[in-house]
Amino acid sequence: MKLIGVGVGPGDPELVTVKAVRLMRAANRVYVPVLSADETGYAEITVRTHVDHDRIERLVFAPPSHPDEPDAAAEAVARYLHGIGPHGSAVFATIGDPNVYSSFTALASAVRSYLPEVTVETVPGVTAAQDLASRCRVPLVEGGEPLTLLPLGEGVGGLSDALDRPGSVVVYKSGRHLIGVKEAVRRAGRLHGALYGARLGLPGEVVRPLASADGNTAPYLSSVLVPARRTGVRSGAQ
Ligand SMILES: C[S@@+](CC[C@H](N)C(=O)[O-])C[C@H]1O[C@@H](n2cnc3c(N)ncnc32)[C@H](O)[C@@H]1O
Repeated sequence: MKLIGVGVGPGDPELVTVKAVRLMRAANRVYVPVLSADETGYAEITVRTHVDHDRIERLVFAPPSHPDEPDAAAEAVARYLHGIGPHGSAVFATIGDPNVYSSFTALASAVRSYLPEVTVETVPGVTAAQDLASRCRVPLVEGGEPLTLLPLGEGVGGLSDALDRPGSVVVYKSGRHLIGVKEAVRRAGRLHGALYGARLGLPGEVVRPLASADGNTAPYLSSVLVPARRTGVRSGAQ
């Protein structure tokens, strides 16, 4: 039996690969992560465009706080996979790419601990970083530029160091720290040209220069792109 982590892109249902759609349609079940069973998950919005709704199963995702605690979501997936037998497959659909800061990594590892014989595969997806650059008509990276992809945890620590280095910087999970991010980018002298995108491809999408992104906080699905310092003319959202 197979567990496949499928990236379904940041939100636009057209930013899903042909392979993702094929595997989701062929799977016995398509899991979508949610925080509670009565809410529609971000990935689910996209999945519903491509898959019969009766095969979509919401998976309430609350990883245990201690490694010794049982993981109810992983246990449920392992039990289902065991039940469908060696030729069955279940997909776990995740926003963006399943190997980029995705809940799939922890889920797959926990499922494997309950069901060692499971085969785990992934299908790449378009990341929010790529989509933001594309919507702003700015290259994410070019030539020899490096890329720093930085997820913010409790604060903006690490951001100033990243901004001092050459290359482009993408900040994920920036919603709660929007003011701090903006201030760090301003201090680094990189506010001009910096871009902000929230809920890309989803209802309520916002794409604008970071300089004009107001408010103390932003939605969870918020990303910031600080393009590399470049010479020459660029088109873009700024
Ligand atoms: C847990 S990470 C998931 C990243 C995802 N696997 C990827 O490949 O892009 C969640 C963060 O991704 C970014 N993100 C994902 N989807 C987004 C969207 N539609 N609009 C803006 N940012 C998004 C946000 O920074 C969000 O806090």
